[in-house]
Amino acid sequence: MQRRVVVVGAASTVGVLAAAGGLGASAAAARSIAGGINPLHMPSTVSPGGFTLTAQPGTADLGGGRTTDAWVYNAAFPGPTIVANRGDVAAVTLVNGLSQETTTHWHGMVVPSDADGHPKDAISPGRSYLYQFAVDQRAGLSWYHPHPHMHTGEQVYRGLAGAFVVRDAEEAALIAGGTLPSAPYEIPLIIRDASFDSRGNLSFGAKSSGFLGNTPLVNGTLGPYLSVDQAAYRFRVLNGANARIFRLALSTAAPFSLVGNDGGLLAAAVPVSEIRLAPAERLDVLVDFRSLARDATVTLRCLDAGWNLLQFRGTGVSGGGVIPTALSTITPLAAPVRTRDFSFDGMSRINGQTFSLTRVDFQVPFGDTERWRFRTNGNAPHPVHVHGASFQIQSRTGGRGQLFPWESGWKDTVLLDDGETVEVLIRFDHYRGRYLLHCHQLAHEDNGMMANFDVV
Ligand code: C2O
Ligand code: CU
Ligand code: CU
Repeated sequence: MQRRVVVVGAASTVGVLAAAGGLGASAAAARSIAGGINPLHMPSTVSPGGFTLTAQPGTADLGGGRTTDAWVYNAAFPGPTIVANRGDVAAVTLVNGLSQETTTHWHGMVVPSDADGHPKDAISPGRSYLYQFAVDQRAGLSWYHPHPHMHTGEQVYRGLAGAFVVRDAEEAALIAGGTLPSAPYEIPLIIRDASFDSRGNLSFGAKSSGFLGNTPLVNGTLGPYLSVDQAAYRFRVLNGANARIFRLALSTAAPFSLVGNDGGLLAAAVPVSEIRLAPAERLDVLVDFRSLARDATVTLRCLDAGWNLLQFRGTGVSGGGVIPTALSTITPLAAPVRTRDFSFDGMSRINGQTFSLTRVDFQVPFGDTERWRFRTNGNAPHPVHVHGASFQIQSRTGGRGQLFPWESGWKDTVLLDDGETVEVLIRFDHYRGRYLLHCHQLAHEDNGMMANFDVV
């Protein structure tokens, strides 16, 4: 997609100018952060059968003539969006054009152990690997990113990440019936932060407490805007940051209609005006622009950082749509046969141990429903993530002491804040084999806050 520079008024707030400081503080950069001067980049889409994914150094176009050195999948930043139908067989050949080992993990996809991108299955520079798996899960937004031993944070930060959308018959019926918007009113938003050096290239500093960039990027675009018709829009949101939690809200304080999360659609839509989204969590939200006048604007913001993430500009063109209520059926997991406790300690340990590539920390019987209890005393946020199955969150005690609407349904990542204990129910009923439990604050993961388990 070609990007043009669109000139708008100067930046207006102190926070905006501060955020632009890492860009060399040029006036143009400050404007781009402020109002949105670059059209939002839309990743291209591919289907999962028989394609090649090449990870290699390249250049990313951030919009408005700004480029940066990056590590990219198929020369795209973020990588292409993989769109699969339930029942498809994915066959993706990963070619490692980097100068270090990598793997590709399909975060949220339930795949056989040998296709899961475990760091023990590292692909050397110059080599390739065929990931093959059946797509057999509910419609939802997953994503893909590297998972090499101790280098996940840097590889994701430098640009290796993309969306993986699964479609199914239930979702198709909701779209056909007009309950859920579809293209061009369905838009992926991969939100992350970054910092840049004096030459405008991505700069990374590994830091155990977590790397926080000083500039937001949405779909790899700096200061993005999106022209929107008078319609209900469906945004598929991924927090692709290494460590930053985004507190999402609209500048009008109007609610989002929350329709889904990591594992697909919720039972019913819920209006929420603020959503705290941790690294690797996903959201499916509708935003009602049906009465947005031509040239009127609304901005998606992060209230914690004080950032404008994405500006929406009304076209005045009527597009319609509805804000739905009932959506799907969530079959509750119940009656766990055992409980496991996991303490996220310091910045590198689970139950006192740092990750070992070869040590297996526990075994989970196939098909059993279990209660897993995650807790921490400090160094949060710890976005806790499990490979190989989704879970249902039961409770949070300590800390924030409650569950939030975006934590219902099926999840694969849950935010554990300081002093919190979160209980989930989980059942591994797809594949046996080696999977991972880890913190998705990527510096914590790379430092060893990760455990191996075998489904047996
Ligand atoms: Cu998104 Cu094990 O990671
Ligand atoms: Cu994962
Ligand atoms: Cu952590």
